[in-house]
Amino acid sequence: MIVLGIDTSCDDTAVGIVRDRAVLSNVVVSQAALHARFGGVMPEEASREHLGLIDEVATRALAEAGIALAEVDAVAATYGPGLVGSLLVGLGYAKGLAWGRGLPFVAVHHLEGHVAASLAGGGLEAPYLCLVASGGHTVLFDVATPGDFRRVGGSRDDAAGEAFDKVARLLGLPYPGGPSVASLAERGTVDGVPLPVPMRAQRGYDFSFSGLKTAVAVLLERNPEAMIADVAATFQARVVGSLVDVTRRAAADIGRDDVVVAGGVAANRALRAAFDETGLRLHFPAPGLATDNGAMIALAAAARLASGRVTPGGDLGVDAAPYQPLGEGPSRPRDATATATGRS
Ligand code: KG4
Ligand code: ZN
Repeated sequence: MIVLGIDTSCDDTAVGIVRDRAVLSNVVVSQAALHARFGGVMPEEASREHLGLIDEVATRALAEAGIALAEVDAVAATYGPGLVGSLLVGLGYAKGLAWGRGLPFVAVHHLEGHVAASLAGGGLEAPYLCLVASGGHTVLFDVATPGDFRRVGGSRDDAAGEAFDKVARLLGLPYPGGPSVASLAERGTVDGVPLPVPMRAQRGYDFSFSGLKTAVAVLLERNPEAMIADVAATFQARVVGSLVDVTRRAAADIGRDDVVVAGGVAANRALRAAFDETGLRLHFPAPGLATDNGAMIALAAAARLASGRVTPGGDLGVDAAPYQPLGEGPSRPRDATATATGRS
């Protein structure tokens, strides 16, 4: 089963080709340089850039995989959450490709894609506990059966990756902040500066990172001479500590031995090292599959197709859904039957 997967949820134009669980190619064209001059992602610019790039990126992904379009068995794209103009470009392109060639189209939730990337290395399907930590989300899911995502906790404010990005700005480091803070942290001392432990007293499974980010801002304002490597190391240790402690506690309470760690922040080496100490059975994404990419969307679609978790007739009726939470309600933002019969 060869699947072409597309993700254009934010500022990366990404197309990947997979054969079942094997990634054949994964082309990601980052728009980071374009948006850097605005100090953040400019939605209109992002959609225009996706429009200009999508066909070329898809063509490159096929060439790098050594696959002809005629060999593709299914097409998949992210339908949400994300920037709606950006989502529409990938979704429209994928639907057109599938419809034109008579192939099944699978609409994939962005976070389900991240999770599929972390599962690709092994045979695990369920049950497991899953931490998704990215630039837009930090959520804990309990997955009792394949595809059944039950949210058990998450960030009350900033996502973990967002906190890395904001602290990077405070430290004068480049976007995306995760890799730049992580590499500076290697030269710093944990607890070399005082920073609070987030949500220390809670009994639930939530996270909070905005107070920590504010503490970094206040620290730098009051103490401009602070060693920024120590700030990076201590900040990273607080985020990692929080992610690992809450996940470990949830796994113990719920009774899960397998823990899936997904999303861009899963690329963080300190996070991986801290999870390694827990004795849990861990499922991390392979290098290159942690941050946004098209292969993860193709992997999620391939898993669905293999286990029959698909909508009869495909997902051509699915709309872009900028805010759709994973596991809450149907995967289709609008009832396709209603759409098809004009009842929407
Ligand atoms: O999953 P992703 O590519 O995009 C979203 O869906 O948001 O995640 C991007 C986020 C960014 O905030 C980035 O700073 C963070 O993941 N990130 C990292 C690392 N690599 C990327 N955070 C910490 N350490 C890293 N090595
Ligand atoms: Zn993502």
